[in-house]
Amino acid sequence: MTAGARTDFDPEELGHGRFYALMTASIVPRPIAWVSTTSEDGVDNLAPHSFFPVACVAPPIVQFTSVGRKDSLRNIEATGEFVVSLTPEPLFEQVNATGTNYPADVSEFDAVGLEREPSALVRPPRVRASPVALECRLHSVVGLGNSWIVLGRVVHAAVHTEALADDGLPDVERLAPLSRLGRAEWGTRGEIRRIDRVPYEAD
Ligand SMILES: Cc1cc2nc3c(=O)[nH]c(=O)nc-3n(C[C@H](O)[C@H](O)[C@H](O)COP(=O)(O)O)c2cc1C
Repeated sequence: MTAGARTDFDPEELGHGRFYALMTASIVPRPIAWVSTTSEDGVDNLAPHSFFPVACVAPPIVQFTSVGRKDSLRNIEATGEFVVSLTPEPLFEQVNATGTNYPADVSEFDAVGLEREPSALVRPPRVRASPVALECRLHSVVGLGNSWIVLGRVVHAAVHTEALADDGLPDVERLAPLSRLGRAEWGTRGEIRRIDRVPYEAD
């Protein structure tokens, strides 16, 4: 095989399911938003979403994508509120277990045995054992084909004090974030490398 030789993939030929597997095995690692919501009936829902980037800096907005119409999306549309908790390594099995498609009247907090903690500004609870919680109010939902991007304005952040470094920011070693890879693969934090941004200087 020639080094750098490529195999080509046409999404139309491959089909959505297989191309989805190709994308999720290629776009790695992905951070995981552990999204808690509360239904109009008062059921606390919790589900992991790895299509999860920062969407805007000012105002602070995060986003996640619901592939299909799921309980998280329905609850957010109905109530306008959600919390994104970060997923630490010790909760690996529980994070995965909250990805099970429980019926809407079952709370994943109870099914999986995760302790809730009240949020400061929104109704959905935080995951007590998660080091970072971002409390969000719905900004907008953008529908794209079979998926919906949920944009949430972050109105409050609550970080475990022991996860903060001396500079007041979360320390990656203490967060120990899980990430999602392709197939059934997940990532842990691995080696942390540091480098300063190099400014352009005309000579
Ligand atoms: C680590 C992980 C990441 C996931 N990422 C997504 C995602 O980005 N979008 C999505 O729609 N489903 C994703 N899922 C699947 C949902 O979590 C799953 O469908 C869940 O049952 C949805 O819950 P809900 O119906 O309570 O909203 C992911 C599952 C796991 C375990």
